[in-house]
Amino acid sequence: MQGFFTYIFILSFVLPCFCTRLNVGIENIFINVMQFGAHGDGRSNDTQAFASAWDSACKAGGMSTLVIPAGRSFNVTKINFSGPCKGKINIQLEGKIVAPSKGAWKLDGTYWISIQHLNGLTIDGNGKGEIDGYGSTWWQCESCKRPKVYVLYFHACNDLIVRNLGISNSPQSHVSVNMCNGATFSHISINAPATSPNTDGFDISDSTNILIQDSNIKSGDDCIAINGGCSFINATRITCGPGHGISVGSLGRTEERDTVSNVHVQNCTFIGTTNGARIKTFSGGIGYAKQITFEQIILENVKNPIIIDQEYNLSLVKSVQVSFVTYRGFRGTSTSDVAINLICGRKTSATCKNAHGTATNTIPNVPCLIK
Ligand SMILES: *[C@@H]1O[C@H](CO)[C@@H](O)[C@H](O)[C@H]1NC(C)=O
Ligand SMILES: *[C@@H]1O[C@H](CO)[C@@H](O)[C@H](O)[C@H]1NC(C)=O
Ligand SMILES: *[C@@H]1O[C@H](CO)[C@@H](O)[C@H](O)[C@H]1NC(C)=O
Ligand SMILES: *[C@@H]1O[C@H](CO)[C@@H](O)[C@H](O)[C@H]1NC(C)=O
Ligand SMILES: *[C@@H]1O[C@H](CO)[C@@H](O)[C@H](O)[C@H]1NC(C)=O
Ligand SMILES: *[C@@H]1O[C@H](CO)[C@@H](O)[C@H](O)[C@H]1NC(C)=O
Repeated sequence: MQGFFTYIFILSFVLPCFCTRLNVGIENIFINVMQFGAHGDGRSNDTQAFASAWDSACKAGGMSTLVIPAGRSFNVTKINFSGPCKGKINIQLEGKIVAPSKGAWKLDGTYWISIQHLNGLTIDGNGKGEIDGYGSTWWQCESCKRPKVYVLYFHACNDLIVRNLGISNSPQSHVSVNMCNGATFSHISINAPATSPNTDGFDISDSTNILIQDSNIKSGDDCIAINGGCSFINATRITCGPGHGISVGSLGRTEERDTVSNVHVQNCTFIGTTNGARIKTFSGGIGYAKQITFEQIILENVKNPIIIDQEYNLSLVKSVQVSFVTYRGFRGTSTSDVAINLICGRKTSATCKNAHGTATNTIPNVPCLIK
């Protein structure tokens, strides 16, 4: 009998300790920017608080969540969320982050929020988070030499997840993905006026296995630009417009070899864009664009639904090779007279220049292709 009581007695002491210790290993540590002195009043400079909170999250082992709370607006000048970090980090971005106005920018960089050298980072806005680049102060000033500023610059991030987030009004491009392997962007809403100059939605370069899906992009330039060094890039269920469409390139603009392969754009809708599916190369460059598929595309009032423009310069022999390009299942309307595969009131036609391939069941038909 005595032995039984002793056993219970020990158990009730040991058990709570045991649980606590177990939790430390698996529990998510929450690090809130407010605990590091952020004000979130839209006026105070919260840059230092963000840097300190990141430092703390990055040094913590296991799993940590950096919390940028909802219902607040944070004024930050420049952020460098850099790894490598000790554990895995989630950023719960439910509040709003606002860039300073033009006067407060320092013209020393190419990014506003830089996220580098991280594996397995997740950024989740939970449908509330928003990042505002406050670009209007830049767009107004045409004579200003704008820095090539990205709102979000991802460099050397692998297995990245970014979702449920709004990004708006970049001084220039909104999201840059550079030298990343494995990233999924979903439920991203990018919003900049049609008249805002050079405000690409996504700029992807030197990256592989990137998926952008279920997102809405309104901008003054390309919704998605897939640049040199990219392979296995997918865009699925994207609504683009206003904007300049989804573009491979420009490729071959410089002396460097530009290669793009295995691009799959499917179930996308273009509304009032200047281009739909575009491949743009410069002659004089070297490299290739191959295995590019655009399929199940819906067009509403698109100026150039399908466009491959190779900037020809007959004095230059070199050029970027474009091959194995498939356009399948395009439906909709065009605002110009030269288009491929569309239904509209005016007579439409297709033009080709040294274009090899076959076209089946297209309206208008494409008799100019070289077999
Ligand atoms: C953010 O703070 C800077 C000074 O720290 C100020 O110049 C700027 O106007 C603020 N931005 C907003 C949107 O309040
Ligand atoms: C905001 O704070 C950061 C970090 O302390 C500083 O580098 C930056 O100059 C400040 N910005 C303004 C506009 O005061
Ligand atoms: C960002 O921070 C990392 C680590 O502190 C540093 O190596 C890197 O140079 C910084 N990047 C920029 C562009 O300031
Ligand atoms: C991209 O799409 C292709 C074709 O549907 C598919 O095989 C591939 O797994 C997709 N890749 C990513 C990263 O989503
Ligand atoms: C694309 O749309 C078609 C037709 O609506 C649908 O059957 C298919 O499942 C969709 N595919 C993707 C990847 O969204
Ligand atoms: C064609 O290339 C040559 C040699 O680089 C250059 O001098 C010329 O200006 C180019 N022409 C056009 C129309 O771009």
